[in-house]
Amino acid sequence: MTNKGAKLLLLPFDSVKIETRAVLRKEAEARQALAELKGFAPVIPNKNILISAIALQEAKESSAIENIVTTQDEIYRSLTMTPFAYDLAVKEVINYREAIYAGFNIVKKRQLIRISDIKNIQETIVENNAGIRRLPGTSLVNDTTREVVYIPPQDYHEIRDLLDNFCRYYNNDEDSLWKMAVLHYQFESIHPFYDGNGRTGRILNILYLLLKNYLDTPILYLSSYIIKNKNDYYALLQEVRKKRVYEPWILYILNGIEETSKQTLKKIQTIKNLLESTLEKVRVKCPRIYSKELVELIFENPYSKIDFLVNKFGINRKTASKYLKELEAIKILSHLRAGKEMLYINTGLMEVLKMP
Ligand SMILES: Nc1ncnc2c1ncn2[C@@H]1O[C@H](COP(=O)(O)OP(=O)(O)OP(=O)(O)O)[C@@H](O)[C@H]1O
Ligand SMILES: [Mg+2]
Repeated sequence: MTNKGAKLLLLPFDSVKIETRAVLRKEAEARQALAELKGFAPVIPNKNILISAIALQEAKESSAIENIVTTQDEIYRSLTMTPFAYDLAVKEVINYREAIYAGFNIVKKRQLIRISDIKNIQETIVENNAGIRRLPGTSLVNDTTREVVYIPPQDYHEIRDLLDNFCRYYNNDEDSLWKMAVLHYQFESIHPFYDGNGRTGRILNILYLLLKNYLDTPILYLSSYIIKNKNDYYALLQEVRKKRVYEPWILYILNGIEETSKQTLKKIQTIKNLLESTLEKVRVKCPRIYSKELVELIFENPYSKIDFLVNKFGINRKTASKYLKELEAIKILSHLRAGKEMLYINTGLMEVLKMP
């Protein structure tokens, strides 16, 4: 074996080497952008709207890094069906969102992350309980050349010890954004599972931001940024390992936090404006069916159907259908036939959700 399988260093890494002037500058910029996002999030009255839409988008994109490709329309359409009918890609994306929710609840409740939590997150994503690797043979391969670029630790006990070290550093009270980049590198290098390491690691990133109170709700995700800069993602991870140069990798992640915070803030502002204008439009044009809850329902479910209204408001199908048709008449919804059923799409919202 070559140095591709060299032993991993334990955390913490040398912070004197990490905290270069460029890193500290970028750290401040990223913090600022993140703080603005955190400050704006409470402006949306119903948190479910935001969390659900943005987490699902992340789920889609993080899965796309792994070549699990589907569209937002496909996902939202599927959410109107029984889970048995989901296709595989949709299922993995929905699992990913479940895993974000579960992780969020753990962090809120316990204020720390344990190895068992990490295992649960991965298990939720890949839907099997293979757990931490016990069999040798896992290596990281360059997608294009098929060359083995890195052999992660192969021994179960070594992996457990490294995860233990990882969790201690993750939970300790030295807070900084650059620490998230270091943690992500280390987690991907431990590569504790047979599959789902990238996605689990990207969820651990958002949970870190929540744990350290950079955010209160899980609404910032780097996957769209990583997809756009995917070659750098792999190359810089590799560079940390090979040359022990941290700066470009850390700047890459900090820059991702900054860019994504700004983008997400814009998106939330747009959702908020759309929500307000829709409330107003329904109130004025359809006063007999107007309620805040009805409008929120079509924002929580960009694809809705009669059953959703029946279940939420306890009205009969005929009334529910009438509501949806009225919303269609004023051009807030548009319908789509799916088998025997009629789906109603919040077209304005879908457009916003498709924004980069
Ligand atoms: N050279 C490298 N060093 C460390 N980690 C790497 C390297 N190359 C890739 N990785 C990490 O490994 C992940 C892929 O591992 P795995 O297939 O287990 O995860 P996944 O969640 O199924 O995939 P993906 O991240 O592609 O969605 C990448 O996302 C990346 O985070
Ligand atoms: Mg994989």
